Amino acid sequence: MARGWSPSSWRNMPIRQVPDYPDAAALAAMESKVARFPPLVFAGECERLKAGLADAAAGRAFVLQGGDCAESFADFNTNAIRDTFKVLLQMAVVLTFGAGTPVVKLGRMAGQFAKPRSSDSETVDGATLPSYRGDIINGAAFTPQDRTPDPQRMEFAYLQSASTLNLLRAFATGGFADLHQVHGWNLEFVNRSPLADQYEGLARRIDETLGFMAACGMSSDNAPQIRETAFYTSHEALLLPYEQALTRESSTHLGRTYACSAHFLWIGDRTRQADGAHVEFLRGVANPIGMKVGPSMEAADLLRLIEILNPANEAGRLTLISRMGAAKVEEKLAPLVRAVESAGRKVVWLCDPMHGNTTTQGGYKTRDFTAIMGEVRGFFDVLREAGATPGGVHVEMTGRNVTECIGGAHGLTAADLSANYATFCDPRLNAEQSLELAFLIAEELKAQRPMRSMPRAAQ
Ligand code: PEP
Ligand code: CO
Repeated sequence: MARGWSPSSWRNMPIRQVPDYPDAAALAAMESKVARFPPLVFAGECERLKAGLADAAAGRAFVLQGGDCAESFADFNTNAIRDTFKVLLQMAVVLTFGAGTPVVKLGRMAGQFAKPRSSDSETVDGATLPSYRGDIINGAAFTPQDRTPDPQRMEFAYLQSASTLNLLRAFATGGFADLHQVHGWNLEFVNRSPLADQYEGLARRIDETLGFMAACGMSSDNAPQIRETAFYTSHEALLLPYEQALTRESSTHLGRTYACSAHFLWIGDRTRQADGAHVEFLRGVANPIGMKVGPSMEAADLLRLIEILNPANEAGRLTLISRMGAAKVEEKLAPLVRAVESAGRKVVWLCDPMHGNTTTQGGYKTRDFTAIMGEVRGFFDVLREAGATPGGVHVEMTGRNVTECIGGAHGLTAADLSANYATFCDPRLNAEQSLELAFLIAEELKAQRPMRSMPRAAQ
């Protein structure tokens, strides 16, 4: 166990983004209650994910992390879960082919409820109330009742996470994720896309590969790799009382303590202070963990944080999620990658092309598809030039037909945003835009790896 660490040692450190619960006794009672609930994930699963992430750091896998900016209680239903999972699978098939390696699938799902905010309060028409911090903390409606942080919400967040995870596990192994079916959905996407000509070549090559595998006798009946997939969950570790309550010592991996609210937790860009509570909590759990790296990060601070979070330089333990913005990615990321490389630190580099590219148009927060793809390309260039490995992408997306990000093959404009703007927080790529991004990234990856066209493992 990390020196001087305990599941509650974060309580002695300065903390940011903390909700102001009016009833301390109610909070303590809920923490005790959640501490008695069963864990949502198990140590062995977290270790398997860590091994997959170690492969990504070494270029033997590619990571796809995606889902809502914020899950919500109101939007909790089968179709929302199924559609997001479906698009993640579709993207993964395309990326598997492009990268010529397995894709590690990591949902921003089943627990992504707590949100950092730039301001503690919001003022509307002269009235000031606490900011909305995500459904696990308070409600989005601008009323004193909704906006007052309520510990009871943790219980429903836990139950929604458990139920979502149960469905995801069933989908992943029960036949829904069959590679042939997923590829069939992609062919439908290609046929209706205005860029069908551009995507057709890649789709046809995947078709041929599946045909070749079938000819070799590999089918859904005899190859679980074709029929099933591994799917992991992740969220920002922001609400530490909840995270601590779900922290458990492993009975199978003795001496190790895991955060059992999800397989993978990350530290946000606003809470990554080396002497702060969030870094303290995550340094001691044995899960694979992530940290957002924004434009204000300096190389010396990054190296210090890496030393705190992964002192043993364990492969797959630490993922750095770069979110610089398309315009700044070359300038800001290059020195950081060089510093990490020359220090010999093992990390997975992911590109989050969403959070540095948010603008406001006609009163709506949005992101432009061109900037998003531009940041991904810039990220690949920086990593390649530094001799490092691009490990994957981290996106805010949904399987539904929302109008939150502009651009893409269907040419969504600012005037279209009001048609179906449904996010509870940041703007997400819709299903078509997500798949389009996957096809474009796959082409980039294939161009970089011309000699490796056959996926080593199908899923
Ligand atoms: C997020 O991922 O939703 C988020 C708040 O990101 P960041 O910490 O990078 O701003
Ligand atoms: Co977000």
